[in-house]
Amino acid sequence: MLRRQLKLGAVLTPTGGPGHPYTWLDPEIPGDASVDIDWYIEYARLAEEAKFDLVFIVDSQFITADSPPHYLNRLEPLTLLSALAVSTNNIGLVGTLTTSYNQPFNVARRFASLDLISRGRAGWNVVTSGDGGTAGNYGLDEHYDYATRYGRAAEHLEVVQALWDSYEDDAFVRDRATKRFLDPSRQHTLNHRGEYFSVTGPLNISRSAQGQPVIFQAGDSDQGRDLGARFGEGIFTHAPNFEAGVAFYSDIKSRAAAYGRSPEELVVLPGAFITVGDTDDEAREIERETQLADNDFQRSLRELGRPFGWHDFSRYDLDAPFPQEALADAERSFYTQAKKITELASANGFTLRQTVETLNAPKKSPFTGSAETVANELQRWLDGRALDGINIHIGHPAQFRRFVGEVLPILRERGAVRDEYEHDTLRGNLGLPFIENRYTRSRSENGAEPTPIDTAVPATV
Ligand SMILES: Cc1cc2nc3c(=O)[nH]c(=O)nc-3n(C[C@H](O)[C@H](O)[C@H](O)COP(=O)(O)O)c2cc1C
Repeated sequence: MLRRQLKLGAVLTPTGGPGHPYTWLDPEIPGDASVDIDWYIEYARLAEEAKFDLVFIVDSQFITADSPPHYLNRLEPLTLLSALAVSTNNIGLVGTLTTSYNQPFNVARRFASLDLISRGRAGWNVVTSGDGGTAGNYGLDEHYDYATRYGRAAEHLEVVQALWDSYEDDAFVRDRATKRFLDPSRQHTLNHRGEYFSVTGPLNISRSAQGQPVIFQAGDSDQGRDLGARFGEGIFTHAPNFEAGVAFYSDIKSRAAAYGRSPEELVVLPGAFITVGDTDDEAREIERETQLADNDFQRSLRELGRPFGWHDFSRYDLDAPFPQEALADAERSFYTQAKKITELASANGFTLRQTVETLNAPKKSPFTGSAETVANELQRWLDGRALDGINIHIGHPAQFRRFVGEVLPILRERGAVRDEYEHDTLRGNLGLPFIENRYTRSRSENGAEPTPIDTAVPATV
């Protein structure tokens, strides 16, 4: 039997995301890297040379002057990925788009375009937007509550996936002799009228070599996990330690089974920073120094507001107990994360100062050590079903080089990562099944023409 191989993703936030306000001070990182397409092309190609499965573009659409450097000034994901599509050949291109502030037709069309431009390498990271302030950029007074956010997300996804099947794969005859361009029986209108969206269809673009773009999902609440279990094919998450990784992995795969899916239909990819040194001790020292360089109490205090709907924590006495009432502002923001912080403070009786200091304290990543140690740990997580792959944050370029140049060769030697791309598509490389067009499938299963177009999509759509 073929050995299960570690999937590899590269998260590109060059000037620094949350908790990393000073990454951009690294002389190797141009200050404008987050808006410089040449930087992205360079790193996408480096990741492709190292046979990574995908590059991952995170996104959000509400900022304040206290937002992390990368968030302050960055490229729109699909525009960026289109440029990467024509600058690379094999690597998957995954972009974040929110279901809360986009219409399904537009999302379906843009991802289908990226999928054709890249010849089957597109992936959509479906988020519902944690930043409540986004509402103000889209004509709303406030962000949706959780039930609405996730209700919209589920319906949005169903509509997008149905739109992607608007054309069967043999729809375009393009027969010069008969002057027949399209077989109209292979074009399908949707006529969707749902709780949140009304979409007639059909979508005006055909499918790619992978059938449909790959769906990624990153929510961590109960509703978020359910959405991932139901639709996700790649699950992006945090995993602070092996036990938490195993618990998340088995939770999400058993939720998927409850939706009638096979565990093989979704891959779990926690995000991680990797630090490699000549010895384990040296790596821990590099990790500590890197984290301390990012540590800035006043900045962290302001950034703490983000999960709490940009609650202003600067107005409190730092040495009074952590203000539990801030959690109310998180209800339409990053509630899961805000609740964890509030619980941490209350369980330990922390003041606001102690809470910020605890969140800021240098942390020991499981993936810090000599190249051999990091390779062994990744292998342990893979074999112990704590992950299927890892989404590596490209922080400091020197560390990315060490991962590629020192850790990957060890894993490659053991057959734990690939030598060469096996497939042309993202879906193929991730080991995910090709999605057969629903109308083609229905005809082959029933031995008849598909059910009428206005009822052909699943009843829930
Ligand atoms: C690992 C991870 C990565 C995420 N990346 C993004 C992102 O790029 N953009 C975004 O708007 N939300 C992102 N989210 C937020 C979720 O999509 C979700 O909206 C938010 O976490 C609040 O929902 P939850 O309580 O279900 O997690 C991410 C969440 C996690 C756990």
